[in-house]
Amino acid sequence: MAFNRAAMAASLLSLTSFAHASLYNESKVNHTCVLEPSILSCSSGAANPLTVDTCCTETYGGLLLSTQFWSTYTGLEEQGQLLPAKTWTLHGLWPDFCNGSYTQYCDLSRQYDPTPSPNTTNGLPNGTAVPAYKGPNIGTFLEPFGKMDLLAWMNTYWINQGAPNSDFWGHEFSKHATCYSTFDVPCYGPEYKQHEEVVDFFETAIKFYRRLPTYDWLAEAEITPSNKTQYTLTGIQNQLAKKYGATPYVGCSGPRYNTTEAGKGSTDGGRTVVSEVWYYSHVVGRPQDGNSIPVNATTPNSSCAKAKDALWYYEVTPGSVRPSSGSK
Ligand SMILES: *[C@@H]1O[C@H](CO)[C@@H](O)[C@H](O)[C@H]1NC(C)=O
Ligand SMILES: *[C@@H]1O[C@H](CO)[C@@H](O)[C@H](O)[C@H]1NC(C)=O
Ligand SMILES: *[C@@H]1O[C@H](CO)[C@@H](O)[C@H](O)[C@H]1NC(C)=O
Ligand SMILES: *[C@@H]1O[C@H](CO)[C@@H](O)[C@H](O)[C@H]1NC(C)=O
Ligand SMILES: *[C@@H]1O[C@H](CO)[C@@H](O)[C@H](O)[C@H]1NC(C)=O
Ligand SMILES: *[C@@H]1O[C@H](CO)[C@@H](O)[C@H](O)[C@H]1NC(C)=O
Ligand SMILES: *[C@@H]1O[C@H](CO)[C@@H](O)[C@H](O)[C@H]1NC(C)=O
Ligand SMILES: *[C@@H]1O[C@H](CO)[C@@H](O)[C@H](O)[C@H]1NC(C)=O
Ligand SMILES: *[C@@H]1O[C@H](CO)[C@@H](O)[C@H](O)[C@H]1NC(C)=O
Repeated sequence: MAFNRAAMAASLLSLTSFAHASLYNESKVNHTCVLEPSILSCSSGAANPLTVDTCCTETYGGLLLSTQFWSTYTGLEEQGQLLPAKTWTLHGLWPDFCNGSYTQYCDLSRQYDPTPSPNTTNGLPNGTAVPAYKGPNIGTFLEPFGKMDLLAWMNTYWINQGAPNSDFWGHEFSKHATCYSTFDVPCYGPEYKQHEEVVDFFETAIKFYRRLPTYDWLAEAEITPSNKTQYTLTGIQNQLAKKYGATPYVGCSGPRYNTTEAGKGSTDGGRTVVSEVWYYSHVVGRPQDGNSIPVNATTPNSSCAKAKDALWYYEVTPGSVRPSSGSK
């Protein structure tokens, strides 16, 4: 599965070129954020690490993207890795810079991704190599905390394609979560327990995801998966914007419209298989608290074809769906 945002690869940035335990030189004293002012990320008050507690205000990556996938198979069905019925799956919670560019693999001392992608911190040959992680999978980090319900939930809704789910969680944590100021280790104070911030990040990504029922929002407008009927980008994007409060990015994979029979001769080179949605927000205080404010996606706000009825929103392969069992 393509986790890279290839279109943005050219704007990749790297905050640092070395591994470090502390991103912003925070002290290891308690960071009791309830005692700090609640500051909106990407506002003028948020930018200065000398005047805010970077553990309590998201200081650099203040544009959050809560991202989801729509897929029709996992590739590991035989091992029981299945898709949930009638639900988009969780991709991640990314901390973009306020201007929409981003950095990645910010703390190589917390590298838990077995297959780093890209393989250097800036995606270029002159970046620092990101070593492949070979330790126990990141899902095992939840065990000492007794969070077996969390692990079960993640195995139901946070689904990888072509490799185990836990590889994907490790990728999301190390590529993206290490770049937040608010999930940095010193933020957890003198009583920090190893991997506490990993659990906290997973819970936060899930908190954002659960407020964004993409499947139901589309179904309300009678946009449901079909292998017969095609849909139009504006119909999908406008319905999600109406429910969310701002326009999300809609991502497509598959053939470009002008390489399909219907699009022959067209100048519309957008892709035709609906596969992703990214909901953008700013946050008041820590992302962990979930006080987010929807904002429009940066442009371009889609990779999909714009032509009428150009898009497929495919039905899941029957053998790839988990038999329905209770509510999420
Ligand atoms: C952290 O401290 C180091 C060494 O004093 C300094 O070089 C670096 O610029 C500081 N980083 C930040 C983000 O303040
Ligand atoms: C920090 O928090 C711990 C645990 O809650 C507490 O025992 C300790 O006294 C606090 N330290 C300070 C300097 O407030
Ligand atoms: C975007 O913001 C980051 C972080 O402040 C900065 O390093 C980068 O140069 C900016 N990029 C552009 C294209 O303005
Ligand atoms: C790394 O390579 C890119 C593209 O070749 C170049 O723009 C950039 O300046 C290089 N960075 C460093 C630190 O050498
Ligand atoms: C990263 O991948 C590229 C392309 O596959 C390869 O040429 C390069 O040697 C790799 N770099 C590192 C540091 O592994
Ligand atoms: C499809 O459209 C894009 C630009 O919109 C163009 O670059 C590409 O050559 C077109 N491809 C075909 C097969 O017409
Ligand atoms: C998003 O963009 C639309 C159309 O350009 C605009 O009307 C709306 O105010 C924007 N919403 C937000 C939350 O910025
Ligand atoms: C999304 O992008 C389209 C085309 O690039 C643009 O017309 C539209 O205004 C954008 N929507 C928002 C809310 O920014
Ligand atoms: C619908 O089509 C997609 C793409 O070809 C395929 O993967 C999926 O299995 C199909 N679903 C059903 C229910 O036939």
